[in-house]
Amino acid sequence: MTQAPASRLVINYRNATDIAVGVDHGISENDLQEVAGKIASEHQRIQSEHAAGEQRWMDLPDNTALADEILAFAREAATRYDDFILIGIGGSSLGAIATIQATTHPFRNLLPASKRNGPRFFVLDNPDPEKVAATLETVNLERTLVNVVSKSGQTAETAANFLVVRDALIQAVGEEQARKQIIATTDEKSGLLRQLSDEEGYRTFPVPDGVDGRQTVLSAVGMLPAALAGVDIHAMLAGAAAMRTRTQDGDVVTNPAYLLAALTVLADQKRGKSMLVTMPYADSLFGITDWFRQLWAESLGKKLSVDQEVVSAGQTPIKSLGAIDQHSQIQLYTEGPNDKLVQLIAVGEYRSQVNIPNPPASAPELSYFNGGELGQLLDRERVATAWALTRAQRPNLTITTPVIDAFALGEFFYLFQLQTVMAGALYNVNPFGQPGVEAGKNATYALMNREGYEDLKKELTSEPADAAKYTNSPS
Ligand code: PA5
Repeated sequence: MTQAPASRLVINYRNATDIAVGVDHGISENDLQEVAGKIASEHQRIQSEHAAGEQRWMDLPDNTALADEILAFAREAATRYDDFILIGIGGSSLGAIATIQATTHPFRNLLPASKRNGPRFFVLDNPDPEKVAATLETVNLERTLVNVVSKSGQTAETAANFLVVRDALIQAVGEEQARKQIIATTDEKSGLLRQLSDEEGYRTFPVPDGVDGRQTVLSAVGMLPAALAGVDIHAMLAGAAAMRTRTQDGDVVTNPAYLLAALTVLADQKRGKSMLVTMPYADSLFGITDWFRQLWAESLGKKLSVDQEVVSAGQTPIKSLGAIDQHSQIQLYTEGPNDKLVQLIAVGEYRSQVNIPNPPASAPELSYFNGGELGQLLDRERVATAWALTRAQRPNLTITTPVIDAFALGEFFYLFQLQTVMAGALYNVNPFGQPGVEAGKNATYALMNREGYEDLKKELTSEPADAAKYTNSPS
């Protein structure tokens, strides 16, 4: 039997400790030991819940049969479609975007079909009329596959974008053919999209039961678009499984997810680092920062503790990109309020090597580039940033992946999800559900005149008597 590939990510957190940035800003051995007992017991709880059928996101790396089914579908679809539109928002699109951005050619949509490995990829998440219109102008609807993704089946942005695209598709190819070009990823039993899919006969893929949207990247939600873009989804699942194997113990230091959870939450609660910056040194990993931002914000930003006390917990996730943000954000991170923990993401070996030609003799100031290479420059900038942050007593840590590939993506996804679940335990909040998001969703329904939301609409549309006083308009 061949051995399952092992996890490869390396976490270096010395720069987040008191040794590197001082006692006022760094996490000490004692701090870690103080939460070690809580982490060990919460680990037991998570494991028991999993054994009892909860924490179902942990099972998604085992989705290999579904991956086979998706790949068979994707192979066939690639022969029939030139364009693919994903319609979904939040957890229903961010994982696919992150995966495709990280693992495929940065200008994939511009490549000829023979080099693209699947249809061009478009996402409609925001109901931005300009982007939706432009997308419909760009694709060839006769050869476009549409994947509408919604767990609840009633998210306003997704529903509206879907109605627009569905109508355009019907206009272009007729009702019967349109049905064949629509794939729905939704709840297996309930919800509006399930009902519509059953009525119209769409092919469907399941959003797994018992997981929030932001935990679905390793289900059909993330895997179907990824497979259509030619991503090795089995490798992605294998990476997640490898990280699951690596995170089986309840130790705060040896379990990388618990280590990250402890460092981030302690940095917030004991050292005032209320913001968490994620800063990869690779353009292709910027999508992961977006995915992580939603995961961290929606899971931990909670008003009530599990004991129903008002705690208003959470740590603000910030996305950043090296080296671009060295010329934008780093000034603030280094000299502004010392309220951030920065997690840098390093890449051992970039997929392209681009040598920097020797500069002309007339520019001796650039001779330090002699024999240099772009990836080397980018990575040295990361080292320089870590050093500069540390010197300014700004805690930071580095997660290194040897390469960027589907396996690494799977590792990141599982690692960050377990980190988030443990961080929820340390904040004493429930990391699942998103009541704050639901409030905004309901307000949108009310403003759009949805039946049953009349009272909320009255509240939302009644103007305060002093509204004019607080409005600056041209006279
Ligand atoms: O994490 C979540 O559950 C949310 O962010 C959802 O993914 C998002 O609101 C979209 O919901 P739905 O998939 O029901 O359309």
